[in-house]
Amino acid sequence: MSIHDKTSLQLPKENLEAKDFLPLLGTDHVELYVGNAKQAAHYYMAAWGFQPLAYAGLETGLKDRVSYVVQQDKIRLVLTSPLKSGGEINKHIDAHGDGVKAIALWVDDATISYDETVSRGAESYFAPKTLKDAEGEVVLSGIHTYGETVHVFVERRNYNGVFMPGYRAWQPLYRPEDVGLKYIDHMVGNVGWNEMDKWCQFYAKVMGFAQLVSFDDKDISTEYTALMSKVMSNGNGRIKFPINEPADGKKKSQIEEYIEFYNGAGVQHMALATDNIIETVTALRNRGVEFLTVPVSYYEDVLDRVGEIDEDLAPLKELGILIDRDDEGYLLQIFTKPILDRPTMFIEIIQRKGAKSFGKGNFKALFEAIEREQASRGTL
Ligand SMILES: [Fe+2]
Repeated sequence: MSIHDKTSLQLPKENLEAKDFLPLLGTDHVELYVGNAKQAAHYYMAAWGFQPLAYAGLETGLKDRVSYVVQQDKIRLVLTSPLKSGGEINKHIDAHGDGVKAIALWVDDATISYDETVSRGAESYFAPKTLKDAEGEVVLSGIHTYGETVHVFVERRNYNGVFMPGYRAWQPLYRPEDVGLKYIDHMVGNVGWNEMDKWCQFYAKVMGFAQLVSFDDKDISTEYTALMSKVMSNGNGRIKFPINEPADGKKKSQIEEYIEFYNGAGVQHMALATDNIIETVTALRNRGVEFLTVPVSYYEDVLDRVGEIDEDLAPLKELGILIDRDDEGYLLQIFTKPILDRPTMFIEIIQRKGAKSFGKGNFKALFEAIEREQASRGTL
C-alpha cells in the first residue's frame, strides 16, 4: 500500500461554482433499510428522542414494504423494512445488515438535479417521478454513490403534507422527550482500499463539491491501525461528506473491519449537532446509548492543547466528551459504539463553538478507544 498522493485530487475551477448546477438546501432525510422497522422506530424514539412523524405500509396501500418516519428538529430518519421475501430491500439487508440506503438531499428542482448529475457521469438510480396526493406533490429522482448507497433528490416546493405522498401522519401515544439534536452536521462514507480519491472526485465532478480538509495517514493513525480521510463539501457548506479509506497499519484498520462486516462501502457514521452536548449526552446515556470512552489521561493535558473553553471540564470528563480546536474556534464531540450488532454504523454527537473542522486532534485518542473495542471483538 502506498501513501496517497496529496496532489491527486485537483479540483477544476468550475467546481467552486458548484451551487450553480446543484444547489442543495439541506439533508431532506436519511433512509435506513432495517430488519424490523417497527422496533427500529421505537429505538430511535426511546433512546434518541426522535418524534413519530409519518407511516407507510399495508394500511396505506403498500404491498411489499413498510416505512416509519421519525424526526428531531431538522433530522429526519426513514426506517424501511420488507414485508415479503426476496426483494431488493431483503438483499440489501442480507448483504449489509441494517444500514443507510439513501442520503436524501433537499433541492428546489429534482429534475434539474438529476439531469445535471447524470450528464456529469452519475449512474441513475431512478429518473424523476412525481408523487401526488391531496396535500400536493413531491418530485423525486435518484443517483448512485459509493457501495449500494444512493442519493435521492427531493423537491417539495408544492407539498404541505406531513412527509410525502403515500405516507400518513403517525401519531402513537408514545412520544418521548427529544434530547436536543438539531441537524445533521456531516455524514461519513467508508470506501475500500485506494478508493477515496475516486469517490472524492465523484463528489467534485458529478455533484460540484470541493475538498475542505485533507488528512493523511500520519494524522490518523495509531501504532496499529490507520485510515485516510478527505472531506467534501457542497457550495453553501450545508452538506459535508468525509470519505475514509483504510490505510496500512500493523493490524486491521477500523475501516477494513467496517468494509468486511458491511460487505462493501457504506455510511460509517452520521454526526448529529446539538447546542448543548452535556445535556444531550447525559440524556442519551440515561436512555441506554453507549459511547466510546477515552482514558482519563486524555483530560490531564487537553486544555493545554485546546486552550480555554466555556464548559467545566468535570462533566466533559465524566461523560467522555472530546475537545478539539482549529483556527476558528473549538468543538466538542463524542462517538457511540456501533449501534448495530455488526460493527458497522455509529453516531457522533457534535457541538461546534466556531470550529469548522472535524476533530482531527482527537483521532489518536479516539482510535485507541476504537481499537480496544476491536480487540474485544477479536477483529484487530
Ligand atoms: Fe465525524
